[in-house]
Amino acid sequence: MRSILRGGRLLALVASLVLLCAALVRAQGKFKNLQVLPQDIDKAKLKAIMKAQAKALGVECDYCHTQPNMEVDTEHKKIAREMMRLVDEINAGKFKPDAKVTGSKALTKARQFYQKYLPGRQDITCMTCHEGKEEPVEPKTAK
Ligand code: HEC
Ligand code: HEC
Repeated sequence: MRSILRGGRLLALVASLVLLCAALVRAQGKFKNLQVLPQDIDKAKLKAIMKAQAKALGVECDYCHTQPNMEVDTEHKKIAREMMRLVDEINAGKFKPDAKVTGSKALTKARQFYQKYLPGRQDITCMTCHEGKEEPVEPKTAK
C-alpha cells in the first residue's frame, strides 16, 4: 500500500477510475430509447441520420419528437422506426414481398411502393421514396 501511495500513484489510480466511470456512464446513458440504431452510436452520427430523415420528409424534428424529450415515442416516430427497419431489411436483401405484415398502414403502403416501383433495389434511403415529402408521390414510371 505504501508503495502505491508513493509518487502520487494512488492519485493516478483514482483519476483513471474516475475517467473510466465517466466513460461507462456516457456509454450507457447517452440515448434512452434506441430500438433500431445501435445503443453505442456516436452522437454526431445519430444527428446526421436524424437530419437526413427530416430532410427526406421535408419536416422538422418535432414532426416525430416532443422536444426536448427526444426519447418519447410519438405516432410518427413509431412509423419512422418501422420504416427504418424496412429500409434495413431491403438493403440487406432480406425483403420478402409475401411476408405477413404487422404494423401501420403506412408500412404496408411502403412495402407495396417498393414492390411496385423499386423491386430488387438494395440502395434505398428514406429519400428514395419520400423525395422531401411526408407522403411519397407515386412515380409515373419505374425509377
Ligand atoms: C421522421 C421521424 C423523425 C424525425 C423527423 C427526427 N427523428 Fe429523431 N428519432 C426518430 C426515431 C424513429 C428515433 C428512434 C430510433 C431507434 O429506435 O433506434 C429517433 C431518435 C432520436 C434521438 C435519440 C433519443 C433517445 O434518447 O432515445 C435523438 C436525440 C433524436 N432522434 C434527435 C432528432 C433531431 C435533433 C431531429 C431533427 C434534426 C430528429 N431527431 C428528427 C425519428 C425522427
Ligand atoms: C419504399 C418506399 C419508402 C421508403 C424507403 C420509406 N418510406 Fe416512409 N412511407 C412510404 C409510403 C408509401 C408511406 C405512406 C404514405 C401515405 O399514407 O400515403 C410512408 C409513410 C411514412 C410516414 C407517415 C407519414 C404520414 O403522413 O403519416 C413516416 C413518418 C415515414 N414514412 C417515415 C419514413 C422514414 C423515416 C424513412 C426512412 C427510414 C422512410 N419513411 C422510408 C414509403 C417509404
